[in-house]
Amino acid sequence: MITSKTKVIALIGDPVQHSLSPVMRNAAFEALGLDYVYVSLQVRKEGLKAAVEGMKALGFRGFNVTMPHKKAVCALLDEIDESAEFCEAVNTVVIDEGRLTGSNTDGPGALDALKEARADLSKPVLLGAGGAGRAIAYALAKDGSDVVILNRSVDKAEALAKKIRDAGFRAKAGGLGGLEKHLKNATALCNATSVGFEKDESPVAAALLHEGLTVMDIVVEPRFTRLIRDAKAAGCTVVPGEKMLLHQGKKSFEAWTGEKAPLDVMRKAVESAIEAKR
Ligand code: ATR
Repeated sequence: MITSKTKVIALIGDPVQHSLSPVMRNAAFEALGLDYVYVSLQVRKEGLKAAVEGMKALGFRGFNVTMPHKKAVCALLDEIDESAEFCEAVNTVVIDEGRLTGSNTDGPGALDALKEARADLSKPVLLGAGGAGRAIAYALAKDGSDVVILNRSVDKAEALAKKIRDAGFRAKAGGLGGLEKHLKNATALCNATSVGFEKDESPVAAALLHEGLTVMDIVVEPRFTRLIRDAKAAGCTVVPGEKMLLHQGKKSFEAWTGEKAPLDVMRKAVESAIEAKR
């Protein structure tokens, strides 16, 4: 039951209606009997500052941030973690006695999802250099991988690889034309482009996928993208997008509550919500 003691956590973004976050998080609060509630709040760009101040004034425990506010919110916080600083983007905020601390769980969430699948991360190929690509590339490089970043706009991949090298880690860059060459010896492949979200398309020709490769897609819906289906058929270990969502969700859940997140409950809630939309 929601009472005056219930701790409130929000998702702010525009749009937010499609998000699986409320279903996943409320199921977890309920399973552990925690007095929290998670709500989606549509916040327009011009209302961001007021919304953040409002959540602080109202005693919210924290919030998630999605498009288009991930970058702009950084300037409104008291502190941001290293990953958020590198990516210039925050997706999780904890409010502790009026102090706002932001982090970016996209990269660490993706890394945990790959590790859960026991992926060999020595030579990963990452497709995409947008917001998600930046976060995942940094997490992989920081973890010790020699990451190859391939992007449709090569200049963006090159700028990202340089920023990673400047931070003291390893990274190379190229265009999507380099897929065949780099995938031959790769141990893992992560799609951080939006290809596969709206149309049943894959950013990688099926013939390039091979056994021994772990393939992850950050696209959550559909659950089994063309890339994931092709990878399965080629004998690869597959990590669909919901795994990254789950591990990201786990990290923010634990930051807000201090409790171990019930991953199985969260997984089932996400799967049922996706199936119900079909
Ligand atoms: P996100 O924050 O989800 O990463 P984004 O910042 O808009 O979203 O980045 C989208 C990524 O998908 C980019 O790497 C983009 O490539 P460009 O940098 O060249 O734009 C990639 N992308 C989008 N549509 C694509 C397509 N049709 N083919 C290949 N890459 C595509």
